[in-house]
Amino acid sequence: MVKSLRIGLAGLGNVGAGVVKILSANAELVAKRAGRPIVVTAVCARDRSRDRGISLDGIAWVDDAAELATRDDVDVVVELIGGSDGPALTLARRTLAASKPLVTANKAMLAHHGLELAQSAEKAGLPLKYEAAVAGGIPVIKGLAEGAAANRITRVYGLMNGTCNYILSRMEAEGLDFGTVLADAQALGFAEADPSFDIDGIDTAHKLSILAALAFGARIDFAGVAAHGIRAIASADIAQAAALGFRIKLVGLAEAEDGQLFQRVHPALVPIDHPIATTMGSLNAVVVEGDFVGRLFFQGRGAGEGPTASAVVADLVDIARGDVRPPFVMPVADLAALPRAPAADRRGRYYLRLSVADRAGVLAELTAALRDSGVSIESLVQRGTTGSDAMVVMVTHEAREADVIDSLARMAASPAVTGQPVMMHILDF
Ligand SMILES: NC(=O)c1ccc[n+]([C@@H]2O[C@H](COP(=O)([O-])OP(=O)(O)OC[C@H]3O[C@@H](n4cnc5c(N)ncnc54)[C@H](OP(=O)(O)O)[C@@H]3O)[C@@H](O)[C@H]2O)c1
Repeated sequence: MVKSLRIGLAGLGNVGAGVVKILSANAELVAKRAGRPIVVTAVCARDRSRDRGISLDGIAWVDDAAELATRDDVDVVVELIGGSDGPALTLARRTLAASKPLVTANKAMLAHHGLELAQSAEKAGLPLKYEAAVAGGIPVIKGLAEGAAANRITRVYGLMNGTCNYILSRMEAEGLDFGTVLADAQALGFAEADPSFDIDGIDTAHKLSILAALAFGARIDFAGVAAHGIRAIASADIAQAAALGFRIKLVGLAEAEDGQLFQRVHPALVPIDHPIATTMGSLNAVVVEGDFVGRLFFQGRGAGEGPTASAVVADLVDIARGDVRPPFVMPVADLAALPRAPAADRRGRYYLRLSVADRAGVLAELTAALRDSGVSIESLVQRGTTGSDAMVVMVTHEAREADVIDSLARMAASPAVTGQPVMMHILDF
């Protein structure tokens, strides 16, 4: 008789409960694909009495997650607690130290400690799998590690946070401001009570740093991701972007060029016909550009019980089949420590929005500031006045980023400019 793969599951929240449901609902199918049954033998969460809508009959309960690492009835540990450190990290370390494979959906932990964990896994010849950590149900880790393995990857980017995409999509569809949509998203359970990891771009930065390591054969450099979120986006920006043929998205972008690594999370204007511009609501999308395969586009549900648990179970199927490889495709020792590419010299087009006093001569002041910084304007519109202020929206020709920032500083210094100018990148690839 074939031996079952026995799972110790830490965390029975959205994703953990989803894993139990899939392994029960699709038990036969999963067993066929895995070559043997995959069964949960032990679980751990904080509150034993909580009804999770799943049956835990015949499954051992442990109060200390770390205990899963050393139980005799556990072959593989699945960490679904979350958090970069604390009990999740303790469990991950103990699991690998106990010579057991580890599956996790924890992007925060991987962004901060992924190399250490990968090194431990490699030394012990163990799988460490994390498909669910980036873009939930979308198999982008497999896509990069396996499907695109023949290619030199030059760029990886996309929408990796469903909460931000949901907020921006609703702001556009309903003409609402950011605060109103955020409050509603929180009431509906689409945004956390403390939404800062999502809306300030940190969650996307975690995922981006993992993708960049995989894509470019580089060491994870989470601290090197410049993260900007969506708090400052006004409904006026969304409307102006639409009038110009763009949609605003929170884009995580990583590029490797000339031996340097560029990583940034920022709101950007995306041409309306670009596949990521048509990715609406809570969907995620990831684009990978390879030298032989060209552009690969992945889209799907980046979060939620079903999609995320689906990715976790896919990792378990791989492990059941004996798939062991370095977690970041090549051994940690071979990953390059790429220097960070400076943003100042990057070239692109930019969207600028300013609120200005509605009086003669103001536009001439703005254009003089741009001229003095060496930035030329592709289009400029002055829109409806509110009281004594007018809104000026400009799109630059391709310019050096540092020059655009310089021109904004000059403009902001003018007494005619009221409020904080807004600058956004235009995605031209
Ligand atoms: N939700 C998603 O759509 C999604 C998508 C991709 C990745 N992820 C990642 O998946 C992981 C889990 O996310 P989730 O949404 O399922 O979180 P969640 O709903 O908050 O569940 C967390 C679980 O961990 C348990 N827990 C917390 N502290 C614990 C401790 N000290 N010891 C043992 N158990 C503990 C909780 O127990 P109680 O239930 O008793 O409180 C709960 O069952 C995170 O790393 C997250 O980033 C989630």
